[in-house]
Amino acid sequence: MKLFDVYPINHIAIERAEGSYVWDTEDNKYLDMYGGHAVISIGHTHPHYVLRLQEQLKKIAFYSNSIEIPIQKELADKLGKISGKEDYQLFLCNSGAEANENALKLASFYNGRKKIISFSKAFHGRTSLAVAVTDNKNIVAPVNETDNVSFLPFNDEVALANYFEHYGNEISSVIIEGIQGVGGIREASKSFLQLIRSLCTKYNAVYIADSVQCGYGRTGDFFAHDYAGVQADIYSIAKGMGNGFPIGGILIAPHIQPKHFMLGTTFGGNHLACAAALAVLEVIEAEQLLMNAKNMGDYLLENLKKIPQIKELRGRGLMIGIEMPDELAHIKQALLRQEKIFTGEAKPNTIRLLPALNISKIEADLFLNSFAALLK
Ligand SMILES: Cc1ncc(COP(=O)(O)O)c(C=O)c1O
Repeated sequence: MKLFDVYPINHIAIERAEGSYVWDTEDNKYLDMYGGHAVISIGHTHPHYVLRLQEQLKKIAFYSNSIEIPIQKELADKLGKISGKEDYQLFLCNSGAEANENALKLASFYNGRKKIISFSKAFHGRTSLAVAVTDNKNIVAPVNETDNVSFLPFNDEVALANYFEHYGNEISSVIIEGIQGVGGIREASKSFLQLIRSLCTKYNAVYIADSVQCGYGRTGDFFAHDYAGVQADIYSIAKGMGNGFPIGGILIAPHIQPKHFMLGTTFGGNHLACAAALAVLEVIEAEQLLMNAKNMGDYLLENLKKIPQIKELRGRGLMIGIEMPDELAHIKQALLRQEKIFTGEAKPNTIRLLPALNISKIEADLFLNSFAALLK
């Protein structure tokens, strides 16, 4: 059987990994400033993570959600404490799209409404509602098209206020990334997030903070949205949560009450996934990775600011977008081929840095020196 060919890929096969480095089958060593798309949060094969997964695997990997799974409660407690959302409720699933799918569905159950507001350049996943609120027609199949979703211009407060004035009582939810990832590392402004909060409160709509890529400590705050100083009603999480083990979830504010069977999942919250997620939180706590993400992010940004060839520098913490002018569009490939550094990309010509939260100054300097060398 052939693989279904859905991605243009780099012909490099990674065989092993440690911390922020990976090795291919020919034993070439690469610096990983991409984290497999913001997934590797505590570094590859972190010893505590490996041990916790091994120990859990020997005990039990899975049993259905029809029984007590104490490790889920342990995870919810720890996540509540570290994220500062102790009074929220946790629903566990397996991916970012699934988290957003459940968030949008739950919002609609909550207020009985159908309209959803999303924004230009948003990316929320590839499943039915998640892709319907994603601003990319190429990945929306005819069956996913719906009149329930309106795309408004990102960070446009007037357009948002006008829309609420017209349709306020029909709006179920507003979904927004704190920093757009696939959209090119674009930050939602503080005042825009604050306006979303106040309009959602006024009209009883649900503010959904998609934190799949920008959350889980990546910006130095647990949630990128936190910097606006207001709370969302639902936070969706995945990627960095399991450091590569598939797990996602939504944090749900206390006023949204559950009913049996309104949400559900076979695999979500299984023992092994919870062990992976707990290992990640334990390392985040023990190694103070939120602080490290902020410090290393500041260090990278400060030094990148000195490079005159960069067209625009965007982002916060360890979520950085480096937009290059057209004539330097080849730099991303050169970083990989010549300097052996993995980075992400976004259109147009934006290099995305999404490294593990525990990178040190050594890795930051390695990246900065290699980048500068290519621009000489
Ligand atoms: C902001 C955001 N939301 C949702 C998703 C979808 O996550 P997943 O690929 O785990 O379904 C992504 C993936 O890139 C994302 O960046």
